[in-house]
Amino acid sequence: MTVSSAPGKVYLFGEHAVVYGEPAVPCAIELRARVEVNRRDDGKLRVHAEDLSLDGFTVEYSGTTDDRPDVNVSESLLSAATEYVDEAIEQVRAVTGEDDVGFDVTIESDIPLGAGLGSSAAVVVAAIDAATRELGTTLEPVELAERAYRTEYEVQDGQASRADTFCSATGGAVRVEGDDCRSIDAPDLPFVIGFDGGAGDTGQLVAGVRTLREEYDFAEDTVETVGDLVRAGEDALADGDLEELGQLMDFNHGLLSALGVSSRSLDRMVWAARDAGALGAKLTGAGGGGCIVALDPTPETETALSFTPGCEDAFRAELAEEGVRQLE
Ligand code: PMV
Repeated sequence: MTVSSAPGKVYLFGEHAVVYGEPAVPCAIELRARVEVNRRDDGKLRVHAEDLSLDGFTVEYSGTTDDRPDVNVSESLLSAATEYVDEAIEQVRAVTGEDDVGFDVTIESDIPLGAGLGSSAAVVVAAIDAATRELGTTLEPVELAERAYRTEYEVQDGQASRADTFCSATGGAVRVEGDDCRSIDAPDLPFVIGFDGGAGDTGQLVAGVRTLREEYDFAEDTVETVGDLVRAGEDALADGDLEELGQLMDFNHGLLSALGVSSRSLDRMVWAARDAGALGAKLTGAGGGGCIVALDPTPETETALSFTPGCEDAFRAELAEEGVRQLE
């Protein structure tokens, strides 16, 4: 038996603009997916997924994705439990040369699904790490990140960015620009997350920004301004200047709103965080619904969010210095 855990992430800055070649800074957070694998000699894959964010709902299936049970659970949970793991195991077979190996895989995740916190990347990174180790192979974080990226690329029909998988594999703060991902220094970042219980449609939101950018110069300028802001954010990170970081997060949220990817519940949570004294707050990920991230070393923002209408869950999630790790 081998067990690995990998962190989720928030975007400190730069989502959406990163699609047009601007830099972005995702940060790993101490909210993790754990994957246990046991080798099987019959070549079958059996997945058991326990999504703690969905009250421990369990889905099991054996064999290939075509054998999925006909149960009424969210498509994203099934995806996390089956398609992602199927493809992750294909990558494991390719990298180890063990073409016929099978596994029992058990997933437990604290990360809300499809809410901008990198849930699928964390599952994929932990699954590849655990399964390769189970076969006696240890991948370096960068190679692991590459295999995990290929997994997401296959499952998401080519619509994957390297940010989530790299961040989950390496931990810490990451700078992404095009295909170039690298770890950067960051101080302790007192993140507070607010979750509205929903999820945005990433494909639709990305398409919306694309259309806006084609139609209006202001949208093209806004995307470029996000890039400038990310560069300023990198300096603030290097200086450990939390106040500056918070202010830049506020600016970034305003620019994302202008690009049409915020929502009433995200705006409400952002304002609740600011009113509670957070240093800054913004949506994280594709937007449309899901999560905001605020910066607050005090307990005030978490408390305020827990009383905010439309906020289903509020919690602290410190920067995860460590990426994927073997637990057993
Ligand atoms: O919602 P997430 O965490 O998958 O982030 C999407 C980030 C975008 O920049 C909107 C899209 C992308 O592929 O980079």
